[in-house]
Amino acid sequence: MSSDQHLRVSKIQDGTVIDHIRAGQALKVLRILGIDGTNDEQVTVGMNVSSDRHGRKDIVKIEGRELNQDEVDVLSLIAPNATINIVRNYEVAEKRRVDRPEVVEGVLSCPNPNCITANDEPVSSRFEVLDDGMRCRYCEQIVSEDIPSLIDPE
Ligand code: CTP
Ligand code: ZN
Repeated sequence: MSSDQHLRVSKIQDGTVIDHIRAGQALKVLRILGIDGTNDEQVTVGMNVSSDRHGRKDIVKIEGRELNQDEVDVLSLIAPNATINIVRNYEVAEKRRVDRPEVVEGVLSCPNPNCITANDEPVSSRFEVLDDGMRCRYCEQIVSEDIPSLIDPE
């Protein structure tokens, strides 16, 4: 395929590029990162773009935000083949593969409204990662397709 047929998505100056997301998963990536367009973050999303290696892929570029390791770990649950590129001054400064964690602590909120972690108790959330979902350590609720969202840092 000639490169003219590739969708061109601008390079970013500083921030994070989440690349090689399985086609169709970009919106989930945004949801899990709490990106819904209501704050000032500049985000570019490419869906079903051509990838030399993978046929089609999704890609998410977040200007001005470097994902931390906890956020990267959580992404592994829905985008195990993604590559996380930290960009500084237009250059890829760090490239990280996501690693599937055994336990996810303090970053996701439990969707069960009766869960102790959902009730302002000083207990941080903790999920055990299963093959096809996650189990809350406190209420045992199993979350699969609909992975809970990140705890709002406020
Ligand atoms: N990228 C970007 N803005 C920059 C630098 C890179 O948006 N200033 C994007 C590139 O478009 C690419 C990803 O970040 O989608 C990774 O960049 P790079 O490592 O240069 O590309 P590749 O070598 O193709 O990466 P990989 O081997 O992971 O496919
Ligand atoms: Zn719970």
